Amino acid sequence: SDSQLVDPFGRRITYLRLSVTDRCDFRCTYCMSEDMVFAPRAQILTLEELYAVADAFIGLGVKRIRVTGGEPLVRKGLTGLLARLGARPELEDLAITTNGSQLGVLAPQLREAGVTRLNVSLDSLKRERFAELTRRDKLDQVLAGIAAAQAAGFERIKLNSVVQKGRNDDEVLDLVDFAVDHGLDISFIEEMPLGAVSSHQREVTFCSSDEVRERIEARHTLVRSSHATGGPSRYWQVAGTNTHVGFISPHSNNFCGSCNRVRVTAEGKLVLCLGDEGALDLKGLMRRYPGDADRLREALVSALQLKPERHHFRTDEQVQVIRFMSMTGG
Ligand code: GTP
Ligand code: 5AD
Ligand code: SF4
Repeated sequence: SDSQLVDPFGRRITYLRLSVTDRCDFRCTYCMSEDMVFAPRAQILTLEELYAVADAFIGLGVKRIRVTGGEPLVRKGLTGLLARLGARPELEDLAITTNGSQLGVLAPQLREAGVTRLNVSLDSLKRERFAELTRRDKLDQVLAGIAAAQAAGFERIKLNSVVQKGRNDDEVLDLVDFAVDHGLDISFIEEMPLGAVSSHQREVTFCSSDEVRERIEARHTLVRSSHATGGPSRYWQVAGTNTHVGFISPHSNNFCGSCNRVRVTAEGKLVLCLGDEGALDLKGLMRRYPGDADRLREALVSALQLKPERHHFRTDEQVQVIRFMSMTGG
């Protein structure tokens, strides 16, 4: 079962984050500007190309795929792609990270396609604040989407909250309570400096995972948990409940040493590290040599030599990585 994708630091890649679109029906302030310009259709991988990329990674030993965006569920034809991936016995995990706005409609189809896990972004439970943070007044739709996903049979749905000082850090306990009440897990994320997002002062709103954990521990007992999804999140269990609270702390707890993942952007660029501009143009290669699966696999294996040892995100500068989060899906 060992992956043939090994980098110079001995890390084996078993997890692919595949972005299927840079578009989104939200405009979260830390992610995009209101007038975000999206890539032209021709620059985005076709569904066939997306499958070819996934297939190459599976052939090299990748066991888990997480489909991201932008908002993956705005991509037309996505459920067809998911069904093809869901039918691959090599995959232990086929997950989606979504803003939840379309789950009310799509949850049963996703389940049917073989999606195993859902992460839903949720930074606020207050309607007006949610509308400010996402620039869309769709909290009710997202909450209904989460309920629909549970009704469709998804278990262990995980919420993702990016905590920002002065914006939503006062909601940490409410979000934990919401997760506990609804039988969900929740991850709190330190904001990362990707993309030049105007009118957003990252150094002012930065909130460390330690601060978030202290707030939670004022009301709950957190028990360190071995719960792991192979990602950077470190988990605790809320005592007396089955809710896990995760912390994704790129700034305060570097997890790069055990990195198991690479990303493919919606434009077909292989990104070896979220915190690095280095990327390999898989789309160009696939369009020059259509159907040449061997060449694609070889390109992936040799690209792994370029994976950087770690990211160098800092909290005191506006932008280090020019690429927008919506291109890589985080
Ligand atoms: P699983 O591990 O599959 O459960 O999911 P996850 O929590 O890693 O993925 P999700 O898509 O929900 O992402 C949550 C946050 O983690 C996003 O802000 C991602 O950008 C961030 N993240 C995921 N992987 C990495 C990574 O390798 N490096 C960094 N710096 N951030 C990551
Ligand atoms: N830093 C950290 N997380 C981010 N996300 C979007 N932009 C950023 C950022 N700059 C989160 C979203 C979503 C996940 C895929 O990434 O809130 O939960
Ligand atoms: Fe859309 Fe996710 Fe970016 Fe928000 S963070 S604008 S939901 S892609």
